[in-house]
Amino acid sequence: MTKHYARFSDISTSEKILNTVFLLTIGLAYLVALINMYYTHQGRDGKPGLSIEDIVILYHGSNDQTRLGAAINGIMEPNLKYKSDKEVILKWIYKGAEEPGYNNDIAPILNRDCVHCHNPQINPSLPDLSHFSGVSEVARSGGAPLPVLIRVSHIHLFGIAFILYFIGRIFLLCDINIYVKRIAVVIPFAAMLLDVLSWFVTKSISSFAYVVVLSGALMGLSMGIQILLSIYQMWLYKPR
Ligand code: HEC
Repeated sequence: MTKHYARFSDISTSEKILNTVFLLTIGLAYLVALINMYYTHQGRDGKPGLSIEDIVILYHGSNDQTRLGAAINGIMEPNLKYKSDKEVILKWIYKGAEEPGYNNDIAPILNRDCVHCHNPQINPSLPDLSHFSGVSEVARSGGAPLPVLIRVSHIHLFGIAFILYFIGRIFLLCDINIYVKRIAVVIPFAAMLLDVLSWFVTKSISSFAYVVVLSGALMGLSMGIQILLSIYQMWLYKPR
């Protein structure tokens, strides 16, 4: 005797209605989440619209947006004895703010123009510019701080796991090839995990921003297909 697995033809109309309003609401919520993502992250690179650069700046940071660079372009500029030193400092930041360049070119400028205010004996609350590690803290690109990434990922993992589970449970009632189905229920989970993981990798390796975008798109796409196919089979499909 072969075992019978439930299909949409086995469930009541009220259950189909409940499934349908749930799936439609999740679909709408996903679209609103995309719009929200657009508004929160677009324009980070100074250009309107969401681009891969915006994602890089979000997770990895940007060499043109350091505290030292902003200060030297703004309120701290008058402290420089020679205007030309500004370019020297900005160029050093842009090239990655490494220690050899600091020792050769940057330390002499800061020691002359900045350290009489910026040292822990005089002003413990100001960035310490008297040695490399203090300067490095304000000269590095930053990106999303680790605690923020951890907070956002735990919310995503808990929340999205529930959503994908319920969508997947409904999708299992579809009448399609079982091997396709077994793989299809795993894809959105795998894509979400890859997405969250690649946020952390992008913090160090900026080109992983592409993986963030592609895995996010794969999750949305696979979820969308499960939703649409489920709604289609619930209401329009006639099993053989
Ligand atoms: C006369 C004292 C003084 C000198 C000289 C000085 N600074 Fe400052 N600096 C300050 C003070 C005060 C603040 C805090 C300003 C604030 O938070 O509004 C500050 C803030 C900063 C910050 C932090 C900005 C932020 O993101 O909060 C940086 C970076 C900085 N200075 C760099 C420099 C550099 C580089 C020089 C040398 C060219 C320099 N400063 C010279 C007093 C000084």
